[in-house]
Amino acid sequence: MPLVTTKEMFKKSMKEGYAIGAFNVNNMEIIQAIMDAAAESKSPVILQASSSAIKYARINYLMKMVEAAIEEHPEVPVAIHLDHGPDFETAKMCIDAGFTSVMIDASKYDFEKNVEITKKVVDYAHMKGVVVEAELGTLAGVEDEVNVSDDDARYTNPEQAKEFVEKTGCDSLAIAIGTSHGAYKFKGEAKLRFDILAKVKELIPNTPIVLHGASTVIPELVEMCNKYGGDIPGAKGVPDEILNKASKSGVSKINVDTDLRLAMTAGIRKVFVEEPNAFDPRKYLSPARELIKETVKHKMIDVFGSSNKI
Ligand code: G3H
Ligand code: 13P
Ligand code: ZN
Repeated sequence: MPLVTTKEMFKKSMKEGYAIGAFNVNNMEIIQAIMDAAAESKSPVILQASSSAIKYARINYLMKMVEAAIEEHPEVPVAIHLDHGPDFETAKMCIDAGFTSVMIDASKYDFEKNVEITKKVVDYAHMKGVVVEAELGTLAGVEDEVNVSDDDARYTNPEQAKEFVEKTGCDSLAIAIGTSHGAYKFKGEAKLRFDILAKVKELIPNTPIVLHGASTVIPELVEMCNKYGGDIPGAKGVPDEILNKASKSGVSKINVDTDLRLAMTAGIRKVFVEEPNAFDPRKYLSPARELIKETVKHKMIDVFGSSNKI
């Protein structure tokens, strides 16, 4: 199957009440792990690259690796998506390179400017058959290269969300309901504003909703990192039960990066500690790749509900 947009994926997921995982990719091992997980759990999948990932891996390498992945797993519906596109130029570069979906994240600007920038990307993307995710509201933490302090964090206003979607024509919308990027999402109890999600779904029922900053920060992976020489104290994410509830409550796309980073790091650290003389990258990257695959499969099967949906 050639690369697809997220249109059909979201249509089916909204009808049946589950979410599609969108996993950040930076290198070959991560792409292989996610794709193997999707194939084994028979799940559609979104591979996404941030502008930093594109700088790191280079866009041609990313596209060619994604092409190889879909050749290897032709039965899996796959979209390739730009995560947190910072401007029109980056979105255009990705569209021209063959991405099937782009995010324009102009959420740091005021409403009118966010609308203006988003609309410009939507017009170009739609002309090329590509879909657009936009963002309204600000997540606490680090958004790619944009720093947003806790004090500035603000939830999405549902009425504004409706107006924003009408004015921009964006295909899906990322909203702020209490998540944040990275490994330190909550100091106390993890809580999401499901009341805001419900209101947004009531006002724009046909717009797929996206949850950023949605890693669980899987405790076993943090412990494994720490056991093998890491120092990641007090890390806390969104528990599986809450993500499962979100998947059944109208969230169509759930973004995961931090859990993949933890899995990769834990896998590599374990080899280095247990076999200090190991210096063949294949020796420490293989278990890391395996751990990412198991992490992604768990999410697809047990949390998002996207398995057996191909
Ligand atoms: O939300 C941001 C993603 O985790 C990507 O992070 O810009 O370091 O690739 P990155
Ligand atoms: P996490 O940091 O929670 O994995 O969020 C990733 C994300 O939102 C990518 O856009
Ligand atoms: Zn994000």
